[in-house]
Amino acid sequence: MDKLTLKDVVLKNLNVLMRVDFNVPLDDSLNITDDTRIRASIPTINYILERKPKKIILMSHLGRPEGKRALKYSLRPVAKRLEDILGQKVKFLDDCIGEKIRREIENASEKIILLENLRFYPEEEENDSAFSRQLACLGDIFVNDAFGAAHRAHASTEGITHYLKSVAGLLLEKEIQYLGETLQNPVKPFMVILGGAKVSDKIGVINNLLPKCDIILIGGGMAYTFLYALNKKIGNSKLERDKLSIAKDILKKGEQLKKDLVLPIDHLVVDKIEKGISSQIVEEIPEGKIAVDIGPKTVEEFKNRLKNAKTIIWNGPLGVFEIDDFAKGTYEVASFIADLPATTIIGGGDTVSAVKKFKLEEKMTHISTGGGASLEFMEGKILPGIKALTDK
Ligand code: 3PG
Repeated sequence: MDKLTLKDVVLKNLNVLMRVDFNVPLDDSLNITDDTRIRASIPTINYILERKPKKIILMSHLGRPEGKRALKYSLRPVAKRLEDILGQKVKFLDDCIGEKIRREIENASEKIILLENLRFYPEEEENDSAFSRQLACLGDIFVNDAFGAAHRAHASTEGITHYLKSVAGLLLEKEIQYLGETLQNPVKPFMVILGGAKVSDKIGVINNLLPKCDIILIGGGMAYTFLYALNKKIGNSKLERDKLSIAKDILKKGEQLKKDLVLPIDHLVVDKIEKGISSQIVEEIPEGKIAVDIGPKTVEEFKNRLKNAKTIIWNGPLGVFEIDDFAKGTYEVASFIADLPATTIIGGGDTVSAVKKFKLEEKMTHISTGGGASLEFMEGKILPGIKALTDK
């Protein structure tokens, strides 16, 4: 790692200002429905606490409030959950900049403080330098542990680094280690599993990983644009007509590089994407039918290809796993790789939800906390929140 990390700095008696990604899902009654991102920050918070700082000041965004205050985007419920998880008082402040906040931080008896949603100010997403400076004056050192927001060049991720020594937190470091270093130098055979609805979301990932990997296995909605490009019948399955030429180019590139792009050979099809609807397994998709999952022969083929892998990265479910009837393919492949003696990296939102639904998260090597950020990382992009940290 060529950037400073927490392990390179002294924190004693400092106000440590830390960007976290507490962008967690809430239900209509403002209950947190998944606190993974809060839990993921705990090792970093504890590490800092052990080094006796003056205060830890946490800042985050939540949702997309478009620069305006709104109760449903308040981080207050997160402060409560953080307090419960840590077993220690967390002071919540209802703003994130200004003299009053500075004084409240100074006078707080609590060691840990959480500021209100940064995106209540449009200046956050505009990466406004005056706003960055106002944030910076709340701390003596800046720690970025918000991997999920590292692809955003915002005031609290990029702008602020111009005013404070800026170091990576433990979570950010771990994400960089798995997604960055493992992908740059994977132990081979290195296999990539891609799924999800759209080819367009994964073009950058395929282009970046095709030369590095041994095999790419493709399922989910995106597979059908590839199958159509190979003149297969896809019925009413998802087709991105405007991405057909890109799909053809990718298939050709795979041939040139002698890399297998493995597509489904059978499918679970339905008339309508709906719970409880009747379904059938087919090898050729009839007119009018929609593919919602990979079939058993494809599952076997995928397992066969994956069995010798030493590194596996997976982004995108292989079917409409949110509906139990259509989750089998994703489940079978997830549970198979969970038991392999390989490094298994799960990158990105929906795949993580699937792995959690199947209760397999403990069996994977690394589950990324980033959605868009992990995708951009897999595309080989340099994330602005990481690039901006202080060089070693
Ligand atoms: C995420 O959930 O992917 C991150 O918190 C970033 O959120 P954003 O897409 O609203 O910037």
